Amino acid sequence: MDKDKVSLLTKLLETYGPSGNENLVREVIFNEINQYVDEIKTDRLGNLIAIKRGSGKKIMIAAHMDEIGVIITGIDENGYLRFANIGGVSPYVSLGQRVMFCDGLQGVVHMEHLEDIKQLKLEKMYIDIGAINREDALSKVNIGDSACFYKPFVQMGEAFVSKAMDDRIGCFIAIEALKQIKNSPNEIYFVFTVQEEIGLRGAKTSAFGIDPDVGISVDITDTGDTPKAKHMAVKMGSGPAIKIKDNYLLSHPAVKQLMIDTAKEHQIPYQLEVLEFGGTDSGAIHLTRGGVPSGVLSIPCRYAHTPCEMVSIKDVENSIKLLTKILEKEILI
Ligand code: CO
Ligand code: ZN
Repeated sequence: MDKDKVSLLTKLLETYGPSGNENLVREVIFNEINQYVDEIKTDRLGNLIAIKRGSGKKIMIAAHMDEIGVIITGIDENGYLRFANIGGVSPYVSLGQRVMFCDGLQGVVHMEHLEDIKQLKLEKMYIDIGAINREDALSKVNIGDSACFYKPFVQMGEAFVSKAMDDRIGCFIAIEALKQIKNSPNEIYFVFTVQEEIGLRGAKTSAFGIDPDVGISVDITDTGDTPKAKHMAVKMGSGPAIKIKDNYLLSHPAVKQLMIDTAKEHQIPYQLEVLEFGGTDSGAIHLTRGGVPSGVLSIPCRYAHTPCEMVSIKDVENSIKLLTKILEKEILI
């Protein structure tokens, strides 16, 4: 992957953006795509909607800008912060990590003394920002402030590793496809959604507003290719995954077929995905108004919802190619 693309991806990944605080990510994306689209706007919930006009069907592509994180619930007299989760945050994964607030302030996540590690819950944990007392802490953070986990982006062999791969990698793929599409007959709405991690909320309102004919979200999925992993037929490096099912969606057969046919026509490797838990923005999009045929282009990702989410560079490149080729076709679903 060329340097400019890697530096855009790095910027997307390292930007602060827990659910409800997606504005900095939105700014990065806006500046990147502004000149490539016919119209661009932010809706009242904060979703960024970029339109490439066409005379055909309305296609909604969704990638969520938000990431999991924590929200401050209290500050004690010694300046330690108590917190709750934003989205799916495991106490075990959080222990010993660093978090980052919107102004760049960082903190360390640790726990009270516990006799048994099985007692570990977020209520038993705190964030240390190096404050000397409550007053000092309050001069830097407040109740209700949100933080994301912080780990810098790194390339490891054939893989990219970072926090927030879920779902900045989806944003990156949508951005690259948007730039690369030539002559599409479709009317394409690229939607960079808010608040996916806490219940697909931005997708719900933006899909209602757009009223698309077809919806495709671009998001990560789990893999079954690590030692003694839960059984799953998806492997990192074996190509973009075409979703059949997760807990919130049964992909529409025609959308699934469109994705498979396009991959075959262009010799793009792909795999079929059945995820036994979780969901993506398409879970909300397909239930909009009278129903919207929907599917998902998934990027196989190890260690989801940790600060070390890992994807294959080849899978990312093939996902960009597959999404571009799908959107260049006249979609008649
Ligand atoms: Co997620
Ligand atoms: Zn996601």
